[in-house]
Amino acid sequence: MSYRVELAVLAEKKHFCRFGLTLHNLSDQDLTDWHLQFIIDRFIQPDSFTHGAIKQTGSFCCLTPDRTVLPANQHYYCEFSINTAPLRFYTDGLKDALIIADGGATQHTVTLTPIMLASPYREKSELPSVEPAALAVIPMPNRIELLDGKFHLTTSSQITLQASLAEHAATWLQQEIERLYQFRAQTVGQSDIIYRNNPTLDEGEYQISITGSGVRLEAGSRSGFVHASATLLQLIDHDEDLSTLTLPYVKICDKPRFKYRGMMLDCARHFHSIDMVKRLINQLAHYKFNTFHWHLTDDEGWRLEIKAFPQLTECGAYRGANHPLEPQFSSLAHTYGGYYTQQEVIEVIEYAKQRGINIIPEIDIPGHCRAALKSLPDLLVDPQDSSQYRSIQHYNDNVLSPALPGTYQFLDKVLEEVADLFPSPWIHIGADEVPDGVWLESPACQQLMQQHGYRCAKDLQGHLLRYAEKKLRSLGKRMVGWEEAQHGNKVSKDTVIYSWLSEEAALNCAKQGFDVVLQPGQSTYLDMTQDYRPEEPGVDWAAVIPLENAYRYEPLAQVPDNDPIRKRILGIQCALWSEIVTHQSRLDYMIFPRLTALAEACWTEKSQRNWLDYLARLKGHLPLLDKQKIEYRPPWK
Ligand code: ACM
Repeated sequence: MSYRVELAVLAEKKHFCRFGLTLHNLSDQDLTDWHLQFIIDRFIQPDSFTHGAIKQTGSFCCLTPDRTVLPANQHYYCEFSINTAPLRFYTDGLKDALIIADGGATQHTVTLTPIMLASPYREKSELPSVEPAALAVIPMPNRIELLDGKFHLTTSSQITLQASLAEHAATWLQQEIERLYQFRAQTVGQSDIIYRNNPTLDEGEYQISITGSGVRLEAGSRSGFVHASATLLQLIDHDEDLSTLTLPYVKICDKPRFKYRGMMLDCARHFHSIDMVKRLINQLAHYKFNTFHWHLTDDEGWRLEIKAFPQLTECGAYRGANHPLEPQFSSLAHTYGGYYTQQEVIEVIEYAKQRGINIIPEIDIPGHCRAALKSLPDLLVDPQDSSQYRSIQHYNDNVLSPALPGTYQFLDKVLEEVADLFPSPWIHIGADEVPDGVWLESPACQQLMQQHGYRCAKDLQGHLLRYAEKKLRSLGKRMVGWEEAQHGNKVSKDTVIYSWLSEEAALNCAKQGFDVVLQPGQSTYLDMTQDYRPEEPGVDWAAVIPLENAYRYEPLAQVPDNDPIRKRILGIQCALWSEIVTHQSRLDYMIFPRLTALAEACWTEKSQRNWLDYLARLKGHLPLLDKQKIEYRPPWK
């Protein structure tokens, strides 16, 4: 350990923190002509910096000290401030640091000491101890009756299809039984599991009956059969040598509470491999989700091959020292990135379809577009625009211009390829977090405003989104976007709004006549920490979301049952933003088991939901997660 950096909170108030940063040169060599790179999520006030200067782009900071030599066994110290909420978790501190010395000729890795927090949370949540439930089904079926007796699947059991709609569901069941229990049902044998058509059942609805004569799964839709398979998989018990699988006698009548049950995964901030994406989609099917929202583009990465613009992935899929996109969030010393080819995407779509899951791709515009702007500067950058702005993640160059012809050429080609690639009837165009101050100093934007009588930037944003909506409609697609998509009042009520800031915003949009998907950050953002201990990974800007809070999320609690506005609320989505999600085990830790709690908010009627009952089922269910090596956060520590 030759170099070590320490960050300590010196003082803090509601919207202010002062830090002291110390870099120790523990080597026996002087550092000469050096600077320090480091990663921090918060915006450092540039004029608050002592003993040097700081340049920050996103989370990437470059500190130039006020002296060019740091002698062996000496330290360098500086102070700086941020004007946001106090830090409570170790993952709020520095994520990586790197010394560049000898004018750029050498680099040295730096050991990080966990941040010295001034006031970490003192609270702690503990779960009541419960006995594991005998029937550990999650989400809770709306009617389930346990009967006396057990049915045994044996090596001569066969899955029989009496419904063509059940083909995917039966294949998935067979694959999962084999994956989990190394147990293969026969192609010819005893018809112990029968999938049967029942046209009286609605979309997603299913029934299961397990008696002495075997297992009967009934549905009237492909999705209903997949959900039936998911429930069956959770009912299976096995003996030690796995030669027999046991199922309890039960009768289940079940159907979804909400039509839309989704999960969003951000693959831009960190890249998640195709295998990780498939693994998650498979898990979503186990908990009866029906939508995977694939966040494919953002400031820090463009992850989808676009044949018309190979630069988007040649350049925009990678970050690093010698790249137009600086390192962000992790990994200063190495180039970081990756993208999905269209062929890979086709495979994922098929994989998801077999599990009853629709994939909605998101191309986030007009904000969150830095990777695209850096990849296609000739097309997308307005050289006359001298507007000053800072986005929520501290960029001053991440917004498409509604006044450039190149923007529309870009949108046309990208949306055409996306619409062609994804069978989903919905395409998500983002629209979130366009920063204040954008476009004000662009002569072209000002001219566009005058031409149309627009009064503010929101009108310009609406202008661009209305274009995107029309383009998507011409491609046979419905536009969906974050709640800011209706800013400027230009898109039609056909656009579906995903509300994320509050339920109030959702209800306002629903009142205006928009269909709405609920994704409130306070309950459904899985990048929020799961408890108050400083070791918990995550952020807390929306909330800390312990398992109980995720479980207790009850949408529309204040809206009367007969209020027609309810019809506009299509469902619920949870989301994992990936700034801190660098690898599979972190992804598992953030998602599980909260995903199972939120699955129940999506699926199970309010009257059937009960926290302690869920906990007992979760306890009974954990061995199934262990079996799959899912590295969930242990609920009982
Ligand atoms: C969002 O969290 N910016 C949708």
